[in-house]
Amino acid sequence: MDNRPIGVFDSGLGGLTAVKQLTDVMPAEDIIYFGDTGRVPYGNKSRETIIRYTRDDIGFLLRHNIKLIIAACGTASSVALPHLEDFGVRVIGVLEPACQAALRRSKTGRIGVIGTVGTIKSGKYEQIIRSLDPSAKVFSAACPMFVPLVENGYAESEVARMIAADYLSPLKEEGVDALILGCTHYPLLEGVISDIMGKETELISSGREAACRARELLAEADMLTRAEGPGKCEFFVSDSAEGFAELGGLFLGRTISSDVHRIEI
Ligand code: DGL
Repeated sequence: MDNRPIGVFDSGLGGLTAVKQLTDVMPAEDIIYFGDTGRVPYGNKSRETIIRYTRDDIGFLLRHNIKLIIAACGTASSVALPHLEDFGVRVIGVLEPACQAALRRSKTGRIGVIGTVGTIKSGKYEQIIRSLDPSAKVFSAACPMFVPLVENGYAESEVARMIAADYLSPLKEEGVDALILGCTHYPLLEGVISDIMGKETELISSGREAACRARELLAEADMLTRAEGPGKCEFFVSDSAEGFAELGGLFLGRTISSDVHRIEI
């Protein structure tokens, strides 16, 4: 039994989609969330910068006596985590759980991956899927407009539909039957993505799969909390706390009622 909180970080607000899944899968756990809102986006930054920011994010969470860290950010998970040192606390990203789920749910072994430019350029999803199943075929597409569309309230608009059709049609033509949503923001575009890809394509939410994996790991190590719950969620950001509280509800699926603290990173 371990009542310490789980740490979650992201480049900004998007990682709240993973927090939503975590509270669904493990409602009694306390969570400390850090959103690097002062330095978002990570998706178009250089590898060196993403590694440096990710190290800072983990360093901040380590000051809070946490038992496990989840990198909710697709970009940090693919570009930075493979190059980081051991922190003495387990750090998991969103890639492996999503790749395993995609292989489980695909019937044809033709798997699509979408994410930020950094995530897709890293080639990490493809590498992991191939290492798990060398016969799988992976088709990737960077979707750089998706994040600003979601953050500006255009997730369900005609513009989103047109841009998504443009990004996704090559994957559809390749006949992928499982599509990894490899970015924190994409669950908010699920309706649009599903309309374009068709009902027969399984959409894999990387945040959901990471939350399930975190639960498995904690259960295996006998580190789940015994507290009755519901767990507390504490939020830290590197830019305006008000802005985060206002927009964050969209990603978290409920109003952010607890305090949001602004910190210097
Ligand atoms: N959180 C990022 C990700 O999942 C998207 C936003 C950004 O580019 O920082 O890749």
